Amino acid sequence: MIIAIDGPAASGKGTLARRLASHFGLRHLDTGLTYRAVAAALLANGLPLGDEAIAVDIAHRLDLGHMDRSVLSAHEIGEAASRMAVLPGLREELVRLQRAFAMVPPGAVLDGRDIGTVVCPDAEVKLYITAAPEARARRRTAEILSQGKEADFVSVLEDLKRRDERDQTRAVAPLKQAADAHLLDTTEMDIETAFRAAVDIVTANRAS
Ligand code: C5P
Repeated sequence: MIIAIDGPAASGKGTLARRLASHFGLRHLDTGLTYRAVAAALLANGLPLGDEAIAVDIAHRLDLGHMDRSVLSAHEIGEAASRMAVLPGLREELVRLQRAFAMVPPGAVLDGRDIGTVVCPDAEVKLYITAAPEARARRRTAEILSQGKEADFVSVLEDLKRRDERDQTRAVAPLKQAADAHLLDTTEMDIETAFRAAVDIVTANRAS
């Protein structure tokens, strides 16, 4: 079984994907980390983010089992990843890796921006997780503060909106809800409520 989860930054899709995978006994891949890992490698070596040939080469050698979330979650890496995600050759290479991951039994939960539309268009269940920008910025700000770092709500909000705009308007695989995806708006939900709602959607779909 493959569960495809898409949505904008800080919508809660990552937490939901992890919890759904553990609940249904599936493997989990946060595809955002694959874009982040390539961006981090270029940044670390002072290489230009627009160099597609180098990006493809790094992607080709990427080990999905060795992506360190705590390092890759840095804000500047996310920004660089989002700028590199417009490169069609890089996307092609990463999508190939992501599909190979999804195909291994017993299946997987993948979360990202183009899972239901491009990576796994035949997934059994597709969820599109969203929330109002202010709610997402509030959560993201609290998360950063809880790590003992500084965060300012207004600049986090501006940042999220800029990232949404870039992800939704790029020419290749833009962020959008697949026609057959279930919409889950978590603006008024805590994570537990959102998780129960997601489990109900997946269970109903499996039964049908
Ligand atoms: O989800 P996360 O913030 O880790 O993703 C970083 C960036 O990687 C996103 O802003 C987006 O541009 C890109 N991305 C993508 N397709 C995916 C996952 C992430 O384009 N499936």
